[in-house]
This record gives sequence, structure tokens and C-alpha cells, in this order.
Amino acid sequence: METPPEEKIVPQFSIPKGIVGQPTYHTHPHMIPKGHLTCGITQMEYKERRDTLVNKLIAEVDNIHKNHVIVIPAARKQYMSDKIPYVFRQNSDFFYLTGCLEPSAILVLVKPAQTDTYKSVLFVHEKDAHAELWEGPRSGCSVSTQLFSVDEARPVEGFNQYLTKVTSLSKPGILWYHNDNPANLDIHDNIRSVLRHGQIALEDPQRALHQMRVIKSPAEIELMKEACYIGSQSVNMAMACTKPGISERTVDAVLEYTCRQAGAEHAAFPPVVAGGARATHIHYVANNQLLHKDEMLLVDSGCQRWMYNSDISRTWPVSGKFSKYHRILYELVLTVQKRLIELVGEQRPPLDQLFDQMCRLLGTHLQQEGILPKNIDGNDLIGRAYRLCPHHVSHYLGLDVHDAPLVRRRVPVASGMVVTVEPGLYVAPNDTSVPEEFRGIGIRVEDDVLITDGEPIVLTEACVKEIDDIEAIVGKHNL
Ligand code: GLY
Ligand code: MN
Ligand code: MN
Repeated sequence: METPPEEKIVPQFSIPKGIVGQPTYHTHPHMIPKGHLTCGITQMEYKERRDTLVNKLIAEVDNIHKNHVIVIPAARKQYMSDKIPYVFRQNSDFFYLTGCLEPSAILVLVKPAQTDTYKSVLFVHEKDAHAELWEGPRSGCSVSTQLFSVDEARPVEGFNQYLTKVTSLSKPGILWYHNDNPANLDIHDNIRSVLRHGQIALEDPQRALHQMRVIKSPAEIELMKEACYIGSQSVNMAMACTKPGISERTVDAVLEYTCRQAGAEHAAFPPVVAGGARATHIHYVANNQLLHKDEMLLVDSGCQRWMYNSDISRTWPVSGKFSKYHRILYELVLTVQKRLIELVGEQRPPLDQLFDQMCRLLGTHLQQEGILPKNIDGNDLIGRAYRLCPHHVSHYLGLDVHDAPLVRRRVPVASGMVVTVEPGLYVAPNDTSVPEEFRGIGIRVEDDVLITDGEPIVLTEACVKEIDDIEAIVGKHNL
């Protein structure tokens, strides 16, 4: 009988049927579209990323006589106390190149000198009935070869021996391995030990990898849109559930619940849910105070869905009605934030330049409102604004919240990047340089913005930020 067309197997790329170590479209059709390895991303895209990385790294050293061995470890499980694990979070670099969600796996790419091809080897945990009884199914070696479309899959136990052998056959050669903040300390010393035998130089693959990661593919952009939409709706829901007397922790729980029930794995980071003057502590995450009717609430939160993150900040009045002074400061920050989004599109500046623009804009507007003295200008004014907003205005966003950290913020933004735009103002309760009525107020407005060849697209547009819209939504949902 002939196979129906949609079931035809492309030899290089096909997803094995049956239960494996992570969701597939066969076992979790509600999570992964047909033909994708992970939601939104095909096996072919993962393979093309490996191809691109190998080519980029070779181009970096430009020496055809060198052999290349690239080692990218997965994250290992982390424990909060004996046998009690934290929620596992895969290493972003490893995930970007494999789509594999298994802890302590290792990707090795071997590119001998003067050949055009490279070999991909994925080290995974072999099938083990006893371990699987406790921890759930594993993919094992034979299935992993097909699932992750690598040339070979081998048991993790054989990694050290394999690396020693392959590097001894690869002299002179380069070991590409990220040596700082190692993803898996269990194998770090062994990886480093191959350097002792000479003729193998250590280089870092991460800069090239992060240059790739910072430009999102069309499939990644769709994933970013989804994470941003879910994050936006969760912040809207948090606004709707806000009322005097409830705890910051309740709002935190609304954010978490709303994101997860919409398909996110978990929050992108511990959220800031800061009422009143607590909002002037930029990293306040205790989230354990009660909210009062005359306060504002600052929330900075986001979600992770299929490893991609959103990052959103909004500030709203607990009572649902902005007071005169809250309104003045909020309008000021919102005006600056909207202008910065325009500037990102008009000038495509480096993010560091956007930061300078933020300080200048905040300074000018604060003077116009009589909050900063009129008799200062230039660097003095920028310095005073910086004191009131001491964090950066933007970072790249993607698989990590502070994404692709090896890409400098001195490079102009480019199409395919997603960046945050997040000015704020934080006036400490004891800041006597600012009129009394503005003290003890913290405000941040943060959106996630896709850079395109045309206008920038605000991916978190669904999250309300206009004063009228905020006042219409706060307190409208009964928990
Ligand atoms: N939530 C972290 C940040 O906004 O960068
Ligand atoms: Mn944030
Ligand atoms: Mn941010």
C-alpha cells in the first residue's frame, strides 16, 4: 500500500513515532505543529543553525590546516536541596542548536581540516528501564539520531573518552568551548584536560553563536509574538485583578496562572510586583506587602513559551484612578517611552545611544514639569536624569531575557532583533532634590519591539498603557 502523501518520510528529517524524552507532534499534537521538532522550529532549521555556526567559526580563524572540535553542553539539573530539583531550564545555546530538552546532553561538532563537511554527535542518556521508571521516558541513542537529525548519538558516559580521542586525532586543532560560566560543571574539567596535551587551542564559540541568536528567524519571530501576547494578556489580567487590600503576592500569582494556562512553561523571571515606594527598588521581588488605595503598583513580568521570553513592565494606580502627581510622572515616562520606540525605527541606533537619548528626554521633560531645576543643562541634566533612572533602557530579548549577551549594545539595531524599550523613573522617599509630592514613586513602562525593514513592531501592543485604558481595566475582575 502506498504511504499517504502527508506521511511520506523525508529520510534526513522525520520525527520518530512513539513516546520519546520530550514532546513531539505525535505525542503532543496540542503543543507542536506537524513536522516541527519543537513548537515552530523544524529539524531542518536546527540543522541549518549548526551549519551556519560551523562556517562562521571556521571563517573566524581562517586557517584551512586546522581541525575544529566544537563542544556545546546542555544545562545540568540543579538542586535546591537533597534530591529536590529546581524546574529544569535548558541552556539556550544548546537548545538553539539542537531543540533537545534533555539535561546534561552534549553536542559535539567535528570538522576536520580540508574537508567540506562536519560530523555532528549528540551525547544523550541511553535508555535505562530503572531510571525511566523514576524520571519518565528517555529518547535514547538510536531515536535521538533521527529525532535531532544528527549524524550520530552516543551515551553521555562515553563523552570524555570520545573527546580525548577526537582531539588527539585533530592536531593541530581548535577546541571551541565556552570556558566561562560553564553550562555543565560535571564535564568542565575533562573538557579542559584535552588542552594540556598541546597543539589544541581553546576558542570561544559564543560570540559567533550570539550574533546568530540576536537576529530572529521568521519562525522565531512567530514564537516571540506568542510569548509577548501571552505576557501582555497576563499583565492586563493583573491590572484587572488589582484592588486596595490585596497582596502583591496575589498579583504575582495571577501573572503566573494566566501565563501558564495560556501555554507558557513558566514566568520568564521572578516578577517585580511592587506597590508604593517599593517600586523605587528596581529589583524588588519579595512581593509580600499589601496594596493601598493611594499607591501605584509597578509590575515587571514576562513569560517563557517554548523557551522564548517576553519582558513587560507597566505601572498603574491600585485604586484604578491616577492621582494628579502620579499622572504627571506616568505621562512623562509614557511620552518618553513612545518617543524612544519612534527613534528606534527612525534612527536604528545602538542601544547604548538609545540610553543617552532616554536620559536626555527624561531630563528635558522633568525640567518642563518643574521637577528638575531649569538652570542645569548638558551633562548635568543627563546626570540628574540618570540618577532617577539608573538602569539601561534596552536589551535584546529571545531565548534569554537578557538575550545574546555577547552582542554589544554599541552595534546599531538591525532587522530581526527584538529589543526592549523600558525607561523608568524612581524617586526615593528621601530624595530631597525632587519636590515632595513626587517622592516615593517608581514607574517603568517596558515593551518588546521587533526591528523590521519598515516600522518597528511593538510585540506587546496588547498590553494596555494609555491612562484611559488603564483606568478602564483596573479592578474590573473579581478574583
Ligand atoms: N525584567 C528584567 C528587565 O527588564 O531587564
Ligand atoms: Mn523587565
Ligand atoms: Mn527588560
